[in-house]
Amino acid sequence: MAPKRIITFGSFDVFHIGHLRLLERARQLGDFLSVGVSTDALSRRKKGVYPVFPQDQRAAILAALRVVDHVFFEESLEQKRDYVLAERAQVLVMGDDWRGRFDHLADICEIVYLPRTPAISTTAVIEKIRV
Ligand code: CTP
Repeated sequence: MAPKRIITFGSFDVFHIGHLRLLERARQLGDFLSVGVSTDALSRRKKGVYPVFPQDQRAAILAALRVVDHVFFEESLEQKRDYVLAERAQVLVMGDDWRGRFDHLADICEIVYLPRTPAISTTAVIEKIRV
């Protein structure tokens, strides 16, 4: 049987346990996990601030993980369809903070929203370090 290809996207800045759990659960849904890491410019547009760690470093951390098979840069949210097709992904996985946002791609892949790990986020970690 052909390997089942999974895709997910995110900034993955200040890598934390919520990121790891999301990637582990995504990888368990198939055989090959592609991760689209938001460029610095896209992260800035999404979140209003530049990430702490530049895109090359965020990508290097993701690529070193056992559960991640391929990393590429996501330049814009509008190109999600192109990325899903280019990666030949059958399943798009996102945390449920994105619930409903990618349902328009259901004609080309299955969409799975996974529950977020409670009580942790990049924003919360930065706040904790700051005080
Ligand atoms: N994620 C998760 N559980 C968390 C935090 C993030 O499952 N506690 C998931 C998100 O739903 C997303 C992926 O990890 O699918 C990347 O999320 P990202 O936005 O990069 O991380 P956050 O910690 O949510 O960052 P921020 O605080 O800047 O929003």
